[in-house]
Amino acid sequence: MSTLLDLHGKHVLLGLTGGIACYKAADLTRELVKAGASVQVVMTESACRFITPVTMQALTGHPVYTDPWDARAGHNMAHIDLPRAADAILVAPASADFIARLAQGRADDLLALLCLARPQSHVDATRRVPLLLAPAMNREMWSHPATQRNVAQAAADGAIVLGPACGEQACGEVGEGRMLEADELRDELIAFFQPKLLAGRRVLVSAGPTFEPIDPVRGITNHSSGKMGFAIARAAQEAGADVTLVAGPVQLATPRHVRRIDVTSAQQMHDAVLPEAPAHDVFVATAAVADWRPARADGRKIKKDGSRKVPALELVENPDILATVARLPAGQRPWCVGFAAESHDLVKHARDKLVRKSVPLIVGNVGPATFGRDDNALVLVDAAGERELAPGPKLALARQLVREIAERIPAKR
Ligand code: CTP
Repeated sequence: MSTLLDLHGKHVLLGLTGGIACYKAADLTRELVKAGASVQVVMTESACRFITPVTMQALTGHPVYTDPWDARAGHNMAHIDLPRAADAILVAPASADFIARLAQGRADDLLALLCLARPQSHVDATRRVPLLLAPAMNREMWSHPATQRNVAQAAADGAIVLGPACGEQACGEVGEGRMLEADELRDELIAFFQPKLLAGRRVLVSAGPTFEPIDPVRGITNHSSGKMGFAIARAAQEAGADVTLVAGPVQLATPRHVRRIDVTSAQQMHDAVLPEAPAHDVFVATAAVADWRPARADGRKIKKDGSRKVPALELVENPDILATVARLPAGQRPWCVGFAAESHDLVKHARDKLVRKSVPLIVGNVGPATFGRDDNALVLVDAAGERELAPGPKLALARQLVREIAERIPAKR
């Protein structure tokens, strides 16, 4: 999914410490700049052994700082000026040694020094400069009790720890300690800056088409790509919610930190959603659920028998998942949002569905104009009236929808 200049106006101080994952820092810088951020790089002496300040300067357009005695900074105090100018400090890679020094509050090089000197005011949160760490090290170093102790201490002191991931390591071993990839770190930073409007909430999303088998090789489905639902799952997660995504057959990557349950048919989607619903505060039904399924799915492929007789397909109605969830008893019923994908008379049909499915909000969109695309236009229909959300990328619309939902849902008990 495109990054939409999501970091526009953000100034990121990117710290590099010694580790082979420094090779990913160049890519990360490009991702941050492409997303609209300005990036100031600070490197430790060990980091300079893995990648040169020349590369990082060329990618950011700003000279790199490495030395606490650098006279270029105002009053000769780089450790004061650099963090105060930043919206966030991201140390990627963060080595075991760097995290150990951070945990001890040491100030033996510019990067450690500026992390210590960053504003952490507990009185005025707006002046706080957050510190995010992307650890990268050999798996034995990562799992060592000393490292785990230091990471826990750094986190207790306010650092946000991103990853590490599990997988193949530069040393040839396999395990936990790989730095997250550049695009993952970019998305973590984008999510970090989103307002936490759904903090402490649980959001359930259904997405994609369903596939109703006729026989082992054929079925009934539709053009839904799942992109809108996946964007809503991502936006809700970015807003601080715990998100469960029940997805029909689509080829889309799971948004970070979202729990995904894959299903194929409408009945399977129903059977996956129903037990989950009572544990969630909000249910957003974006799935384009097939209304009917073949009464019998043949176990074997239906063959032409030479008679040119066309097989008759008997259909039965699928359960209405949204309407079923919306009828759960109070206390078990999440706040429900339905979607209406229509080809004509959008608002009229959306309003009909609002009443028919007894939900507080229906989001209308023109199905044929949006299926498979990255852009959409939405109209929100509720008891108070209609509100159009201007055409735009699905992720931008999803974030607006999350804001609308956050304003409407009842306060947490
Ligand atoms: N929906 C559902 N289960 C179904 C059918 C629809 O949960 N069996 C949900 C969709 O996820 C969507 C809303 O109901 O949030 C409206 O879906 P839509 O297909 O537009 O409406 P239908 O109820 O199927 O009505 P129609 O096909 O007549 O437009």
